[in-house]
Amino acid sequence: MKILAIETSCDETAVAVLECAGNELTGARFRILGNALYSQIEKHRAFGGVFPALAKREHAKNLVPILESSLKEASLLEKQTQHISEDTWKEIALLLEREPELYDALATHGKTYDIPDIDAISVTHGPGLPPALWVGVNFAKALSILWNKPVVPVNHMEGHVLAALAKETDDRVYEIKPPTLPLLALLISGGHTELVLMRNWLSYELIGQTKDDAVGEAFDKVARMLSLPYPGGPEISKLAEAARAKARADLPFAPLPRPMLKDSSCDFSFSGLKTAVLYLLKAKPNLSDSEKESLAEEFENTVAEVLLKKTERAIETTGARMLVIGGGVAANKHIRREFEKELREKINLCIPEPALTTDNALMIGMAGYFRALKKEFTTEFKADGNLSISTS
Ligand code: KG4
Ligand code: ZN
Repeated sequence: MKILAIETSCDETAVAVLECAGNELTGARFRILGNALYSQIEKHRAFGGVFPALAKREHAKNLVPILESSLKEASLLEKQTQHISEDTWKEIALLLEREPELYDALATHGKTYDIPDIDAISVTHGPGLPPALWVGVNFAKALSILWNKPVVPVNHMEGHVLAALAKETDDRVYEIKPPTLPLLALLISGGHTELVLMRNWLSYELIGQTKDDAVGEAFDKVARMLSLPYPGGPEISKLAEAARAKARADLPFAPLPRPMLKDSSCDFSFSGLKTAVLYLLKAKPNLSDSEKESLAEEFENTVAEVLLKKTERAIETTGARMLVIGGGVAANKHIRREFEKELREKINLCIPEPALTTDNALMIGMAGYFRALKKEFTTEFKADGNLSISTS
């Protein structure tokens, strides 16, 4: 089955085409036929974070070129040129009323259109920034009308879980082996920090979540306090790694608090940690470069320790046999190292390759394929910024 996947939940415009086979019982195989991604990070940097109206505009501007480059790479353009009726164009115009630039970009082809040889379209419909999600959702629905192909809506967080399970076995080929259930997923991104349990394939139970800020958000906010550019995660990581490379004397300030560690739940809280950094910087406004590095290191150590302890607690209480870590923050070197060190011997641990941790369309294609196997085709769905992964 060939799936065309669309991802626009935040500041990445991505379209991929995957040739998919197999299932969760036999193992599934994904060959990347086309994969194009445009990151808006540079555009948002001036705002110190993702600015939703700008994200929407940029998605609308870039989706058609990104789609075309993905299809071209997959050699799926100009396969079957078909005449598109006036009525179909009217229907698409109505659907894309709020994204006129997207309609114009699609309509430049005139009355005929190249129908690519794909079987289904998958698209992220949440969670994420609603204006950004809507562009992708409406685009997928428009393509569905234009090409007469079915659509399968995908939860972005499920994409992160599946990307973590995927291993590259050959050039541009990924495999997902039959998972060992129950599987625990630690999902850590700019908008989420949650522990979810999969007892049955693709059904999720929420075990713990943040009560306030997401861990990626905490990285980004602390980075901003240190006048580092957006996104802050990789910047903090660079400073922290620099500090680790030096033989360090004692911390030049009191250790940061380890939030929620004494609490017996599997929930997280990161806003107190952020406030502790704020107070520290107020008390010591002119940190030297090496003190900034130490602060980044201490912040990362704190986050890693809390994530690890809560995950260990969740493994104990749920009896999980497999642990996957997904989401942008899973790219963090220190967090990866700590989980490897503490848990590699204790549980079947899956940490995605760094390129698959941050948002991409491959993960949406993988999730779309498994959902397509369950025949979850529909065009009756909306973008939902708060869409939960949990089914219980
Ligand atoms: O999953 P993602 O790409 O987008 C969302 O769905 O939110 O995650 C983005 C988040 C940002 O907060 C970014 O600062 C963080 O992931 N991030 C990192 C690293 N790379 C990205 N955080 C810590 N260390 C990193 N190396
Ligand atoms: Zn994400």
